[in-house]
Amino acid sequence: MTSILPHGGTLIHRIVTGEERDSLLQEAQEMKSLRINTWTISDLDLIAVGAFSPLTGFMNEEDYLSVVKHMRLADGTVWSIPITLSVREEKAAGFSLHEQVALIGEEDGIIYAIIEIGSIYKADLKEEARQVFKTTDPEHPGVKKLLEHSPVYIGGAVKVLNRPQPDRFPEFYFDPQQTRQFFLDKGWNTVVGFQTRNPVHRAHEYIQKSAMEIVDGLFLNPLVGQTKSDDVPADVRMQSYLVLLENYYPEDRTFLGVFPAAMRYAGPREAIFHAIVRKNYGCTHFIVGRDHAGVGDYYGTYEAQQIFSNFTPEELGITPLFFEHSFFCTKCGNMASSKTCPHSKEDHLTLSGTKVRGLLREGICPPPEFTRPEVARVLIEGMSHQVVI
Ligand code: ADX
Repeated sequence: MTSILPHGGTLIHRIVTGEERDSLLQEAQEMKSLRINTWTISDLDLIAVGAFSPLTGFMNEEDYLSVVKHMRLADGTVWSIPITLSVREEKAAGFSLHEQVALIGEEDGIIYAIIEIGSIYKADLKEEARQVFKTTDPEHPGVKKLLEHSPVYIGGAVKVLNRPQPDRFPEFYFDPQQTRQFFLDKGWNTVVGFQTRNPVHRAHEYIQKSAMEIVDGLFLNPLVGQTKSDDVPADVRMQSYLVLLENYYPEDRTFLGVFPAAMRYAGPREAIFHAIVRKNYGCTHFIVGRDHAGVGDYYGTYEAQQIFSNFTPEELGITPLFFEHSFFCTKCGNMASSKTCPHSKEDHLTLSGTKVRGLLREGICPPPEFTRPEVARVLIEGMSHQVVI
């Protein structure tokens, strides 16, 4: 048995160790430096461990323009989200091509990496927003973040010298090499990846388990990087996943590991990105439900599914599993979707995220047909400690 090929064919590894690391750390002290924030550190680490294969660094101008316009790297490989390093214009003016620059955490002063500058360029951020997020509305959380950046980007391969240390649930951090090995050891030929930034409600469980009926294993891979402030915090979610798995999932067919990336809220484009990254983690299948990675009303309910038709199965290399909007039907007495339920909307139990958060905040469990009581209890407890959510 062999595992699925990483995107681009090779699992990238950009972490330097041993003597080479020691001498690069020494050299880095003398280099020009650039302060990087938590978001950039998480991108850097995901590049380093191969989760963003075939990227070996931050995008140069050629790849960036091609990704923004065509959802492909300059060599044609499918890639839908720019992975960029933004620099203040005055700072960039001091850098030159082929120079090595130390990337230093702005909060902790740690030298995380060295970038060899291959490209310094000015981006059209409005155009990037229009193409990637399909809107330039500054109310969109992804657009808002983007427009806060300086439009000057530097691209180039990185060598990582220090990795960010998780301060919460470190036992659920696995690099793609480790997840791939785990799936191999388990003998799973087919593995479905599940992206989520929410607690797992019954609709999520339904689509996961529907997928589990046809594949060997489930990789529950919640995103735990930066999310918008009204999403449920990652540590509360982790507790809710644990209690759910313990009570309702077969242990030998389920694997929980975090995805330490920032959430972009780019809907359709992010669905492609999420799928490719899960392929790098070793998944053969990836779930895309309704309004995947969406926010507000910016994207159509199934746009994140439709976008997959722009690419051939070969160039994606991971099979998306599409699910319709799912709900509990009181007439059927079970979870269903419009594909399997003949009843009308009045018979369907659907609650908006805002409504559910409101109930939880007041200490009220949503109906068990919506959220498992064990999960609801964890969320109520976790959210009672949140000042603002
Ligand atoms: S996301 O931003 O990570 O996509 P969320 O955690 O809510 O948000 O969703 C995780 C996955 O479940 C996505 O693929 C999403 O499309 C899917 N999903 C969420 N709710 C439903 C639902 N009621 N019916 C079908 N799919 C859903």
